[in-house]
Amino acid sequence: MRIGILTSGGDCPGINATIRGVCKTAINHYGMEVFGIQSGFRGLLDNDIVPLNDKDLTGLLNLGGTILGTSREKPFKKRASTSTNKPALLLKNIKDLQLDCIVCIGGNGTQKTACKLAELGVNVVSVPKTIDNDVWGTDFSFGFDTAVAIATDAIDRLHSTASSHQRVMVIEVMGHKAGWIALYSGMAGGGDVILIPEIPYNIHNIGNTIIERLKKGKNYSIVVVAEGIQTADGKKAAEYIAQEIEYETGIETRETVLGYIQRGGSPTAFDRNLATRMGGHAAELIATGRFGRMVALKGNEITSIPLEEVAGKLKLVNADHDLILQGKRMGICFG
Ligand code: F6P
Repeated sequence: MRIGILTSGGDCPGINATIRGVCKTAINHYGMEVFGIQSGFRGLLDNDIVPLNDKDLTGLLNLGGTILGTSREKPFKKRASTSTNKPALLLKNIKDLQLDCIVCIGGNGTQKTACKLAELGVNVVSVPKTIDNDVWGTDFSFGFDTAVAIATDAIDRLHSTASSHQRVMVIEVMGHKAGWIALYSGMAGGGDVILIPEIPYNIHNIGNTIIERLKKGKNYSIVVVAEGIQTADGKKAAEYIAQEIEYETGIETRETVLGYIQRGGSPTAFDRNLATRMGGHAAELIATGRFGRMVALKGNEITSIPLEEVAGKLKLVNADHDLILQGKRMGICFG
């Protein structure tokens, strides 16, 4: 079999480990030919593909980013700017390239595109990828654990400077719709206030929490906010919350935006092994002809679910998540 593999959407640590898992299993265990599609779905539109052999797959396990490049190309999105029938071009190129299957590694947008391709009869297998951990149907996506580790290290570092200056430090982490990174890194980093898009907040509650801490002799506070929380005047999350806290409490407050550092560098061991397990399972689905499915982690089992169950959905934090319930019991404010 000839399979094409592409990476689409925001990059993250673990993508190359996944490419390695898919390709080394396909080549060594199933005797398949593998082709790397450059820059996500744009590479399929431009016929921009390269053969991937074993020698191309060394040094990938701990390498950040994606050797194939990525884009946010959405070929099924109707745009007035182009008359090209992109779906038809995709089908033509896949046929001309004689690709028997397309492996799509990506987040929500990618899963939606993969599902539409499958509906057009293309053999597709997808692997969930995002630091946001908001892909439906899988307990975790690779990239998330690494982003949480990076954010937690950053939060740990804020405690000493906050304490030295008796300040409130606000740190903004990624997650434009789902607050998984803020929740997991906030709890792991000892956040006193954790704000996520899924839970509305009241600045008075936040102020009271900080003032109560002060009364108990805790001369600083750490506030962790997801970039996607509601703010006024279109302000960025950390800037807005820091201003509001300083105004509300009179305590000197500073903000830090962690940004793309959460998407850079080498994946954690957990993400490397999750990527390897998911990549290998993708190759197995292809070898057994089980197409139109996304690989998923359920508990500690690697499995797969139909793409139509995933497309268009988001996995948001539920307000009764046990990390939230436990945090509340310990006096952490969630807004
Ligand atoms: O989806 C992952 C993500 O990193 C989000 O957390 C973030 O808001 C977004 O991508 C940034 O998108 P871009 O890389 O296109 O700026």
